Amino acid sequence: MAKALDGVRILDMTHVQSGPTCTQLLAWFGADVIKVERPGVGDATRSQLHDIPDVDSLYFTMLNHNKRSITLNTKSEQGKHIFTELIRKCDVMAENFAPGALDRMGFTWERIQEINPRMIYASVKGFGPGPYVDCKVYENVAQCTGGAASTTGFDDGPPLVTGAQIGDSGTGLNLALGIVTALFQREKTGRGQRVICAMQDGVLNLCRVKMRDQQRLKHGPLKEYPQYPSGKFGDAVPRAGNASGGGQPGWAVKCAPGGPDDYAYVIIQPQGWEALMKVIGREDLIDHPDWQTPAVRLPKLDQCFAMVEEWTKTKTKFEVMEILNPLNVPCGPILSMNDLAEEPSLRETGTIVEVDHPTRGPYLTVGNPIKLSDSPTEVKRSPLLGEHTDEILKQVIGYSDEEIAAAREQGAI
Ligand SMILES: CC(C)(COP(=O)(O)OP(=O)(O)OC[C@H]1O[C@@H](n2cnc3c(N)ncnc32)[C@H](O)[C@@H]1OP(=O)(O)O)[C@@H](O)C(=O)NCCC(=O)NCCS
Repeated sequence: MAKALDGVRILDMTHVQSGPTCTQLLAWFGADVIKVERPGVGDATRSQLHDIPDVDSLYFTMLNHNKRSITLNTKSEQGKHIFTELIRKCDVMAENFAPGALDRMGFTWERIQEINPRMIYASVKGFGPGPYVDCKVYENVAQCTGGAASTTGFDDGPPLVTGAQIGDSGTGLNLALGIVTALFQREKTGRGQRVICAMQDGVLNLCRVKMRDQQRLKHGPLKEYPQYPSGKFGDAVPRAGNASGGGQPGWAVKCAPGGPDDYAYVIIQPQGWEALMKVIGREDLIDHPDWQTPAVRLPKLDQCFAMVEEWTKTKTKFEVMEILNPLNVPCGPILSMNDLAEEPSLRETGTIVEVDHPTRGPYLTVGNPIKLSDSPTEVKRSPLLGEHTDEILKQVIGYSDEEIAAAREQGAI
């Protein structure tokens, strides 16, 4: 079946997580993604966090589906020549090297435009222009510098990073949107353009509501935060524990049988108040003047959720979900990775996919979270290092067997 990005060819210089998530998405939408890797070494993640000796790690396989791999030393003379030809033949070049790496290889934006004026050159960097522009950045650094860590965790504890890779995979999403938007504009202008996504910007964008609260703080305490009314507010938005980021109070409450992930997140909205009080056996509070409105409940949300927890502790998180949802009480079980891996509905939608791999065997991966009705995703295994080198050199830049042998002889591929 035809795919949305059929005919788009991507020169994929990305590595580790942020860039590869972007090009993997584009590959799932049908782009021909040519992953360029250093001969003999490849993407560093191929050999990071090994679970099985001498096979590509899950770190690599889960980020590089549907791509082709070519090994190419872009610092050698012949390698630069091949790289130039690839730039000529591709629509997009994506990279997330440390700042300046491609410039140091001799491929500045100016040079790339000379080679191919239609090229969209897309990069992930840790920071935009400013004091940290030259820094290398990994996920947790981005979470800390983008505002997520200072606003995550409990008031009496240290800043916390989240398990969701909002800096890496989050910025990869931004880059993918930048690329398809630039491709769309190229339809009208015929010109390529530069796309840059900074991880700090990407994290801060996801922390928009915290910047909202920073400004609200000037006009009084943040009443939905657990610090209200007894705790103190300082100059900056504090860590809000499990309080809801929106206007509706919520909290994670314990469930049976009391394991580390036996919790449910429960939100108390006016429309669900009566039913919730009935189900937990506190009908007396439904019309009680001290409890009946959101405003009077606000200063004692901790007591409110403690009452709800007395009830949830007698049910599993799944029972809580089953009972409360029909009552118009928004809630969600805290699902562990184990729960998610086993969830049949996620398998059915292709959000969790089992993939076979020639050296690893079958493994689970997270499929495309974006579902297009006319461009369904087929998840195909990640390439072995250099698996498609000859095929790409022949098919994309028209090399002969002799030219390929010579490039190999010179160590360029
Ligand atoms: C992720 C990061 C910290 C890793 O740093 P690193 O392991 O030191 O890797 P670098 O990006 O510096 O690249 C290493 C070198 O390999 C070289 N290299 C990469 N592919 C090559 C190839 N095919 N042929 C020849 N050389 C190659 C690079 O040019 C660079 O050389 P240089 O230092 O001489 O310029 C860094 O790339 C970075 O900050 N990236 C931007 C932000 C980002 O995406 N971070 C999240 C990653 S999930």
